[in-house]
Amino acid sequence: MARETGPRLSEAQIAVHWREERTYPPPAGFVAQANAADPGIIERFGEANFPDCFTEYAELLSWDAPWHTVLDTGDPPFWKWFTGGMLNACYNCVDRHLPTGRNRAALIWVPEPEDQATETVTYQELYRRVNEFAALLREFCGLESGDRVTFHLPMVPELPVAMLACARLGVIHSEVFGGFSGAACGDRIADSASRVLVTMDGYYRGGSLVDHKAKADEAVEAARRYGREIEKVLVWRRHPGRYSSRTPMVLGRDFFVDELLGGYHGRSVPPVSMPAEAPLFLMYTSGTTGRPKGCQHSTGGYLSYVAGTARYHLDIHPEDTYWCAADIGWITGHSYIVYGPLALGTTSVLYEGVPTYPDAGRCWRIAERLGVNIFHTAPTTIRMLRKVGPEEPRGYDYRFKLMTTVGEPIEPEVWHWYHDEVGKGQAVVVDTWWMTETGGFLGTTLPALQPMKPGSCGPGALGILPVIYDEDGAVVAAGSGRAGNICIRNPWPGVLQTIWGQPERFVDIYYGRYCRDPGSKDWHDWPFLCGDGAVEASDGYFRILGRIDDVINVAGHRLGTKELESAALTVEEVAEAAAVPAVDEVRGRAVEMYVALKPGLSPGPETGQRVTAAIEREIGKIARPAHVWIVPDMPKTRSGKIMRRVIAGISNFTDVGDVSTLANPEIVEDIRHRVQSEKLARGDVPRELTAQEAQEIREFGTAE
Ligand code: WTA
Repeated sequence: MARETGPRLSEAQIAVHWREERTYPPPAGFVAQANAADPGIIERFGEANFPDCFTEYAELLSWDAPWHTVLDTGDPPFWKWFTGGMLNACYNCVDRHLPTGRNRAALIWVPEPEDQATETVTYQELYRRVNEFAALLREFCGLESGDRVTFHLPMVPELPVAMLACARLGVIHSEVFGGFSGAACGDRIADSASRVLVTMDGYYRGGSLVDHKAKADEAVEAARRYGREIEKVLVWRRHPGRYSSRTPMVLGRDFFVDELLGGYHGRSVPPVSMPAEAPLFLMYTSGTTGRPKGCQHSTGGYLSYVAGTARYHLDIHPEDTYWCAADIGWITGHSYIVYGPLALGTTSVLYEGVPTYPDAGRCWRIAERLGVNIFHTAPTTIRMLRKVGPEEPRGYDYRFKLMTTVGEPIEPEVWHWYHDEVGKGQAVVVDTWWMTETGGFLGTTLPALQPMKPGSCGPGALGILPVIYDEDGAVVAAGSGRAGNICIRNPWPGVLQTIWGQPERFVDIYYGRYCRDPGSKDWHDWPFLCGDGAVEASDGYFRILGRIDDVINVAGHRLGTKELESAALTVEEVAEAAAVPAVDEVRGRAVEMYVALKPGLSPGPETGQRVTAAIEREIGKIARPAHVWIVPDMPKTRSGKIMRRVIAGISNFTDVGDVSTLANPEIVEDIRHRVQSEKLARGDVPRELTAQEAQEIREFGTAE
């Protein structure tokens, strides 16, 4: 079912709620050194030069054979970029930097415990490690181009080493975020049909050494239930030579990588030349329905896109020390910790642990000690750092030239703290809006050429043509104050190629809504649906309002309501479950679960805990609900559909809207009374919502 109406907000209303319509120019010192300082670049990447403008990105790479076609639109919407071209992604991120920069740091890894030494991996050293691991994957595991391998690795240098080793062989990697559960990892192993899992015994988080190998056993079990057998589990050791997990190694299946590597000492493996459109990796993400989808990214198009956007929008120069504090287990880390920065030959910092461990100054100490000059993080981290140490950055002597925010809308107030305190008023801020599916940035500024506007991501990135459509496919004019569904009119090299194994779903989800003619081979007829609501101001800047599907963005992580609900339903006594977002001061949104029990059962003291445990087991701790409410019944329509917007309204103390058409309107008051009185008693009442937030809550759960 389509949503009835899009949100309607005037610019003035938004301005009131965001309290901000001003723009800020970049500091002159930044402009003087910027990669994109000539305004001519905007025209070069204008619509008149599409698609050829993107050859400027492809030319940042080294190709074994040139492409004959920039954009092949022969099989829409399965766009092919730079066809005929051959290249290797690992060669581009490692080998080609050796002649001029072999002793430059490629990676600087900071372990969480402050008494453990920082590790610098030069390009030469990275070359050695990647080659040895590639030899192991090829010879010990028998992997070859086109095979898939699942990683469940934390934030350690072994992760980029493993990614690049796969890329060297043309093997498709699928990294599952380390914080996900073994079950979630097993699901992704099965979907991608991997027969090798690469993991680590443990890693440090919040001061303790987490047993991570335990999850590998769960993952293998879960994959088996889906009919997929893992042949080998490669286990890196956090402390080589010393096993840090209590889980036994399984004979003939589990192997310590540090032991095996001895047999590949000094080996080199020639990079396999791959077609531009060969898949480089899969990254799973959540949507409205069903299991997570494996977004398939290409070699040539993707690598060109992340290199180009990292060069112009992040202003990365080879001599910079760049720190993106995201996790490589998410798309941000793939594109903007590993592939983009390394393709440009810069130094990329990796941090193992929690940004506030052991205290509020950790990030700033790292920045000061390593001379970080580009800093990249998410609003949730910024809010958290501000909460624990609002004046902390002043005590440290670092200097950022550029800072990025990604993953969620940033409130102007938080933006100002970031700019004034973290950036010390000297750094330019780029707000980068995009998603797992898009490979790289969609909406953001060119830092030297376009002013910053707090709370707005900016116009389309170079070569990207965003448009907002209403429900009927009419363009919503800039400056109209109306919101709608933001789409990208044109293909771009970073866009996902398909959903792994589900091409129909790919076409349907991203192109089904606004395709003008399914028989057309003209890209103009195939706008890409991003999945966010947005407003365009008269200056062409976009303000992102959040997901239009039933996805809850918790601390910048996409959690599908269906996945949360399926996990809750694994608890035996649960009959029905509904997940809704609650506005949260630090994490943007938190998840609240509502469950109704099977007839005749009454909740025991542990029912709520069992629901939480099930969610942690099926998805991971990141999905842990803030509350589990056990209710006598769910508010439902006469056709039996759970009205998530009603319970979302209750959780957020906002208007629940018209309930007169429900099958059981009397239940609403009952639930409201229970939930709100308990929240009041705990002092857990959200602040007054902005107009946008209230709109989101009012419409929650109407996507389908
Ligand atoms: C949200 C993360 C506002 C958005 C790169 C999108 C943002 C979802 C921003 C994708 C931003 C991302 N401002 N919202 N700068 N960046 N989002 O796939 O709702 O983990 O659809 O990719 O995050 O999340 P994903």
